[in-house]
Amino acid sequence: MTTQGDLSAEALPDERSLEASLRPATLGEFVGQSRLTENLAVFIQAARDRGEPVDHLLFYGPPGLGKTALAYVVAREMGAELRATSGPVVERPGDLAALLSNLEPGDVLFIDEIHRLQPSVEEILYPAMEDFRLDLVVGQGPGARSLRLELPRFTLVGATTRAGMLSSPLRDRFGYSARLDYYPPADLVRILHRSARLLDVALEDAAADEIARRARGTPRIANRLVRRVRDFAEVADGRDRPIDGDRARDSLARLEVDEAGFDKLDRAILLAILEKFQGGPVGLETLAAAIGEDKGTIEDLVEPFLIQRGYLERTPRGRVATRAACSHFGIEPPARGSQARLF
Ligand SMILES: Nc1ncnc2c1ncn2[C@@H]1O[C@H](COP(=O)(O)OP(=O)(O)O)[C@@H](O)[C@H]1O
Ligand SMILES: [Mg+2]
Repeated sequence: MTTQGDLSAEALPDERSLEASLRPATLGEFVGQSRLTENLAVFIQAARDRGEPVDHLLFYGPPGLGKTALAYVVAREMGAELRATSGPVVERPGDLAALLSNLEPGDVLFIDEIHRLQPSVEEILYPAMEDFRLDLVVGQGPGARSLRLELPRFTLVGATTRAGMLSSPLRDRFGYSARLDYYPPADLVRILHRSARLLDVALEDAAADEIARRARGTPRIANRLVRRVRDFAEVADGRDRPIDGDRARDSLARLEVDEAGFDKLDRAILLAILEKFQGGPVGLETLAAAIGEDKGTIEDLVEPFLIQRGYLERTPRGRVATRAACSHFGIEPPARGSQARLF
């Protein structure tokens, strides 16, 4: 994948430890998503009062919005240990059985990308979630027998960008599922000021506003942009000068992040639809081929934001660029006709 850079909502390989240092520790530090955090606060308090672990939780939504961070917050608020793994890492039922049988009472087991669990692994999870037991088959053929193990009560926290790909038996076993939404700029401003403090960067309000507006509603991107802007600021102005709005604007222009928070890939996609396919509809495969980008990248990382902001629509016949996309690029909407739906 060539085009993924500053605006990719996925964590970059060298970013993990930095993200861990910016992670909110408590519900109070977790900015925004107020309906979700208010509910969680209730579930956590109720569980603590009963001396039980919280019911299993599922967090879903686009990357970079705080699913992993919330899992850590829940563990911390419960005074519990978090053990983390992810769908693709747990290859065999035995791998999961090993994880489960090592849990201590009250532990939080965090499974990221939970939609990618193998069906055979999922089957182990059902009785574990429901009845805190492990049903194992040992041996093969006629000598095979089944073994039942009691597990300590624990909380499973699952995270996924693709809730639709979760099997319904798995989905049904979560006590509470919540979708994380893109953050309004005001929330991103708060996140940016907090990150700036932790990174020991002096960030003026105008600079925070500027970055927040262009961070695609995504804390991960906001945190990444502030680090890039800091690089430009330090080289241009030295370390002691606070970062102001002009420095932020100039840096973002150099990063080719435009007013709407589009990067090169967003522009490539929308311009291809507008210029090569008369506004659409165009199939995802054709679109991906036209711009030389991976289909999955477009579908998972780029489109959700463009759709949420009203620049792109998914229709049964393919992708369509909207009026907002035309006006963003100063392009006349294609003539009425095949796109009569939208134009
Ligand atoms: N609501 C929030 N408040 C403060 N920081 C946040 C918030 N949501 C996400 N972050 C920060 O953004 C980064 C990405 O969040 P993460 O939980 O890894 O996203 P996800 O798991 O949904 O992809 C982390 O550094 C995280 O601490
Ligand atoms: Mg995550």
